[in-house]
Amino acid sequence: MRLLITGCSGQLGQEWVHYLDSMKIPFTAYNSKTLDITDPEALENTLDNDAPDVVINCAAYTKVDQAEEERELALLINHNAVEHLAYACRDRNIKLVHFSTDYVFSGESIDREKFPNGYPEQAETNPVNHYGVSKLKGEESIQKTELDYLILRVSWLCGAYGNNFVKTMLRLAKERESLSVVNDQFGVPTFCTQVVNQTLKLIEQNQRGVFHLGSVGIISWYEFARRIFELSGVEVNVKEVSSNEFKTKAKRPHFSKLNTSKADQTLQSDSLHWETGLKQLLKAIN
Ligand SMILES: NC(=O)c1ccc[n+]([C@@H]2O[C@H](COP(=O)([O-])OP(=O)(O)OC[C@H]3O[C@@H](n4cnc5c(N)ncnc54)[C@H](OP(=O)(O)O)[C@@H]3O)[C@@H](O)[C@H]2O)c1
Repeated sequence: MRLLITGCSGQLGQEWVHYLDSMKIPFTAYNSKTLDITDPEALENTLDNDAPDVVINCAAYTKVDQAEEERELALLINHNAVEHLAYACRDRNIKLVHFSTDYVFSGESIDREKFPNGYPEQAETNPVNHYGVSKLKGEESIQKTELDYLILRVSWLCGAYGNNFVKTMLRLAKERESLSVVNDQFGVPTFCTQVVNQTLKLIEQNQRGVFHLGSVGIISWYEFARRIFELSGVEVNVKEVSSNEFKTKAKRPHFSKLNTSKADQTLQSDSLHWETGLKQLLKAIN
């Protein structure tokens, strides 16, 4: 099996490259400069030259707040380019593996009571910010194309490479004496190592459709920050604030945990608890 990775300089893209290298699995990988997924000709030429069995699309517009202003660009990358990629893969009999987000859901607090174990794959989508809208349109464009696909929704993605909340917290703790972190947005981190492992198993099993990947447990960003510092032995004053006190350009869901039962049952193994994943990540970062 030969894989092609797009967006290989991003957080998840780098995780794929390191893992595939270490396992000696054949692949080609492209960053935004060597393959711009919004360029249809470049995309098709690359697919024709490399002739992969599976495309792993890690390329995405991921700036949640900036997406409120750069709506067209977010749509171009997360919707139009993905739609073209889906058709190009279908025409060449290539499986498309695509990553999406918990932000396709509205995340009303009431949904926490409705879905205590998290949103299942079939729950109604209704994004509250433009990034979520653009990612949902990308999903829909894949689903309407009749091709062999996997859409893996992940939340609060964290890994050893690129940028994420864990790394931002550790950096800010060096620069500031106190930090404010929101205590009314609940979810759970998804760790990149687990995403790569579980996705490869789903590909090996020739699975198709939408799957939620994530960790066991549910926490607020505030609890997550506290535990990052405790486990790292970092002393910093962490102040809990509400979303109203911590204004951002894009609205965020209050609840966005993903229910991972379908992936757990399919793979016959439980997802990691978020604390276990965090400990492993901190070890990898240090
Ligand atoms: N990060 C999270 O917390 C999170 C949460 C839920 C879901 N997800 C999803 O998980 C996936 C991976 O996210 P991530 O954290 O790895 O994102 P990331 O670190 O921002 O990486 C995205 C990559 O896509 C590349 N890219 C952007 N526009 C491109 C284009 N036109 N052509 C080719 N490459 C392009 C970027 O390159 P440049 O940097 O050069 O622009 C970057 O390397 C995405 O689908 C994202 O929506 C992420």
